[in-house]
Amino acid sequence: MRKNIVAGNWKMNKTYQDAQALVSEIDNMVKDEVTHDNVEVIVTPPFPFLNSVGKLIQGNPRMHLAAQDVSAHESGAYTGEVSAAMLKSVGVEYVLVGHSERRQYHQEDADLLLKKMKAALAQGIKPIFCCGEPLEVREAEDHFKYVAQQLRETVAHLSNEEFDQIVVAYEPIWAIGTGKTASSAQAQEMHASIREELSRLFDAEAAYNKTILYGGSANPANARELFSQPDVDGGLIGGASLKSRDFTDIIKSF
Ligand code: G3H
Repeated sequence: MRKNIVAGNWKMNKTYQDAQALVSEIDNMVKDEVTHDNVEVIVTPPFPFLNSVGKLIQGNPRMHLAAQDVSAHESGAYTGEVSAAMLKSVGVEYVLVGHSERRQYHQEDADLLLKKMKAALAQGIKPIFCCGEPLEVREAEDHFKYVAQQLRETVAHLSNEEFDQIVVAYEPIWAIGTGKTASSAQAQEMHASIREELSRLFDAEAAYNKTILYGGSANPANARELFSQPDVDGGLIGGASLKSRDFTDIIKSF
């Protein structure tokens, strides 16, 4: 069965103390309130908090740990980089790859993203591969082609076994942090188109089983409608994941 996931990406927010408090609140709320059987919760704190956040969620089988980035290199003289093996050693299970903020502010291209995915997969860490178009592409009505191309440049180069391990997140750049969510119809048609492309690149069954998340100004007020779409299997949540109440309400929106 296709897995539902709600992942909170904390981006560059919170101090150590804030992070501890936030994850404890989320952990308790999830334990007390989330009854849906098929929903996995992921928290994605900044690197310095991964170890301590991971320890706090250890006893909660529903909660999982993700990193916001991973080095494409295995180890060595790469100052400032964090390897997949290091992430693995502190209990990281997922890693974001290809987030538009990394593509835009750190010039991460398709070749690098593929290396990062391979580096993570080699350590048994599951990449959450992000894709999505900027506003001008949407306005030119080239968005389906643009996102399909992002998949062909990177995901297409994975083996079938590697593909089985990844999660895909569609994040229209014009919706990220802007308060302007894609409508549920816009999300659904893009998710269906991503699934179709994946089915061409791999096979229909693997594509059908793939979890595809929506990201971009999702919040407790719009999550239910977004998640009710047949091809939307959850969310990658930024701003609203920094508040335990909002994040938990989004998780409860299935
Ligand atoms: O990774 C999360 C996305 O970039 C969405 O961020 O919910 O603040 O728009 P947002």
